[in-house]
Amino acid sequence: MSIETTPAERGKPRPVRAAAGEPVEVSFTVNGTPATLRVPARLTLADALRDHLGLTGTHLGCEHGVCGMCTVLVDGAAARACLMFAVQLDGAEIVTVEGLGAQDDKHPLQEAFSRHHALQCGFCTPGFLLSSYDLLANKPEVTKEELPQELSGVLCRCTGYRNIIDAVAEVAEDHPEGVPGPRNCGVRALVGRSGGSANAREEASEEVTAHAGPTEVVLPDGEPTIRVDVTSELSASLPDVWAVLNDVHMVAKCLPGAELTEELGDEHYRGRAKVSLGPIRLSFAGLAHVIERNAAEHRMVVLAQGADAGAGQTQAHIRLTASPSGEGTRLRAEAEVYLSGRIAQFGRALAGDVSRRMFEQFTDGVQHAATSGEAPEISGGAGAGALRLVAGATGARLAAALRKLAARLRRPRG
Ligand code: FES
Ligand code: FES
Repeated sequence: MSIETTPAERGKPRPVRAAAGEPVEVSFTVNGTPATLRVPARLTLADALRDHLGLTGTHLGCEHGVCGMCTVLVDGAAARACLMFAVQLDGAEIVTVEGLGAQDDKHPLQEAFSRHHALQCGFCTPGFLLSSYDLLANKPEVTKEELPQELSGVLCRCTGYRNIIDAVAEVAEDHPEGVPGPRNCGVRALVGRSGGSANAREEASEEVTAHAGPTEVVLPDGEPTIRVDVTSELSASLPDVWAVLNDVHMVAKCLPGAELTEELGDEHYRGRAKVSLGPIRLSFAGLAHVIERNAAEHRMVVLAQGADAGAGQTQAHIRLTASPSGEGTRLRAEAEVYLSGRIAQFGRALAGDVSRRMFEQFTDGVQHAATSGEAPEISGGAGAGALRLVAGATGARLAAALRKLAARLRRPRG
């Protein structure tokens, strides 16, 4: 097949011939985050967003350009993601519904859809949001009478159009100069998944993160989902504990399932973490930035963010402080943790339980490393290498909550 970057106006003609299944590298920006993928030439933008970047807010209905479910913004204009090949979009700026607004900072269109009950199942909602964004950005003077015709490119199968029209009309009235821009675009971790096996998911994830450029850890504004403040007493001496904390590779090894994959310089690190929560297996890819390493006060401050393709994102501001305690060491971890996407359904109590259990396992690792000088051994067997968090310490409440959450995370595409 013949691939040519569209549109030619983008000024980067890139004539290439490639077989349909031949991998081709393409770089674009999605919701403010640069991404480079190596994908088959025949892969649609919709599948690249969903399966390789974990952005499942872009829905797929007809896959023939009819229903509008897959509408995204490409270089500021609404486009059907099911009708474009990802490799056509080299250099493009893409905005998906995830970039339009955030849970705690919704776009006016999202607020209006919510206020007017402009959705039932929500399947058409991303398409309607981005289609109406495009309309109001380019034709703010649109009248309410014109809206049914103007929005006829997106089909809703289950709710009344009247509420959708009311919502869009209200935003048009509130913003006569044009609708405000997308609110949730910024540099963050993007990770992939594929529709196949767990292994395939991990491979897709590695492919994307390996090609992603250096990025900054960005913490959301507003209140964290949970705050963690946990203290453990270690028998190891303070100098030995600090020697472990001061070695970022050893710190990663003290958390089962975590792995540093790349040093980006200037105290930035890329890595992965596998977490096994009973029936739920999460595989996070992300970044850590050590923003303070204070040897005099034995304190280390880290910003971290990670994303699991199916489950969502987590960001954290973590402070680790070691202090003398008798012959041993008191190790305190304080963290503000932000969860978004499906893992936000953990709720505060469950997320608190999980965070505390993670810290316990981490301090066990630090104790081992500080006393032996060796990284802790990761036990074998099923799920080896993953941080496992249900058995024993967590009880029936957590097990039941995780079963429910696992069922939700297994929901089909949509
Ligand atoms: Fe793209 Fe229907 S899925 S228009
Ligand atoms: Fe269900 Fe539109 S709300 S398809």
